[in-house]
Amino acid sequence: MKILMVCLGNICRSPLAEGILQHLANEQGLDWQVDSAGTGNYHIGGKPDPRSVKVAKQHGIDISRQRARQITREDLSDFDHIYVMDKSNYKNVVALASSADEKEKIKLLITGDVVPDPYYDDALFEPVFDMIYAECGKLLTFLKK
Ligand code: 4NP
Repeated sequence: MKILMVCLGNICRSPLAEGILQHLANEQGLDWQVDSAGTGNYHIGGKPDPRSVKVAKQHGIDISRQRARQITREDLSDFDHIYVMDKSNYKNVVALASSADEKEKIKLLITGDVVPDPYYDDALFEPVFDMIYAECGKLLTFLKK
């Protein structure tokens, strides 16, 4: 199973989602490949935001070796499921889809809600981690079936 997590910069939210879901899948002995990407190009090659690295580390998850990349059209055929953090990500990723099949792979990580962008608000990293962690737990149960 190949799962792609997507946000805007690929330095705050989607690196957390990648780290958390990969961690939970590994714990269960599942052979899943989790990756992440951004819709924007500002941070290509960059490390995850130190605030995301810190909050993940506090929960025993190391995301420090990830590097930011921008989503490509090929990702939409390559991955089985693509989870985006907010509605703007959704719009940008859907624009890359070249078939109804690819469009159907794209979903908000939290059905009917968004993971807020914590980039300009230090206080959001902890709640964002908690939201993503809770959702990844549910996702694991759902996708395992
Ligand atoms: P992310 O957060 O999409 O969760 O990685 C952001 C990171 C950087 C910027 C915006 C959001 N930025 O504007 O540089």
